[in-house]
Amino acid sequence: MPDLFEYIEKALLASSIAETIDLSQQAFELSCATSGGFVEPVTRTIQPIERVRFPEKPICVPPKELPRRRLGSEAGKRSFIHAIAHIEFNAIKLALDIAYRFKGLPEQFYKDWLYVANDECKHFNLLCDHLTQFDCQYGDIPSHDGLWSMAVKTEHDLAARLSLVPRYLEARGLDVTPGMLDKLYAQKDTASAEILEIILEDEVTHVEYGTRWLDFVCQRDAIQREELFFKHIEHYLKGQILGPFNKPLRRRAGFTDNELLELERLDKRHSKK
Ligand SMILES: [Fe+2]
Ligand SMILES: [Fe+2]
Repeated sequence: MPDLFEYIEKALLASSIAETIDLSQQAFELSCATSGGFVEPVTRTIQPIERVRFPEKPICVPPKELPRRRLGSEAGKRSFIHAIAHIEFNAIKLALDIAYRFKGLPEQFYKDWLYVANDECKHFNLLCDHLTQFDCQYGDIPSHDGLWSMAVKTEHDLAARLSLVPRYLEARGLDVTPGMLDKLYAQKDTASAEILEIILEDEVTHVEYGTRWLDFVCQRDAIQREELFFKHIEHYLKGQILGPFNKPLRRRAGFTDNELLELERLDKRHSKK
């Protein structure tokens, strides 16, 4: 029986896009096929996060050097779709990494994050197919590595990873995507909008998994969730969180009214500066 974690490790260490996707999908299929019989090897070793590889292209540049992504022009639309494809490719590695790096969790933890990785592969493929209409391939436009840097910063702490990746970075997608959809519909670009609708619905589940597993850690360690979440927001972001927040979608993803109020308070404090 092949070891699930070997597939995940190979997918993380692969620099090729096709290999990353192929191995990620194989790991997901294997996790579905091993219901109830899934055992994490006690002796499994974990490669340092610095060994995780990415494709040579796109090249990474500081955010201020990125091309403009105004939706009004063909070039802007191309950059916009490419930027989302880049987020989705990073999201594949992020979901694989959380399933790989943290040991001794229930079987469902690994299954949930492989499910997420599989969704991210689907999102990435949809966007890559769509990019061909703009005479563009993933890798053609410079991007930034802001998402992955959060994985590196939180490599030793599952609660920090859950707070900062699904519950901060992915949750931000829930806030901003509805506005992008409005613009795309206003331009009658239903092809792009349909892809973003699929992504948005799936992302609610990803953020909800973040909430669910943060709850698990809190119950296990007898800590209050809000306290732990905001401790990490303060530590890693210095409380610099940006709104406005999409409350209905965030509520569906498990944010409480208290958490939403506190996020708004931090956003106001930050905007005043
Ligand atoms: Fe996604
Ligand atoms: Fe996601």
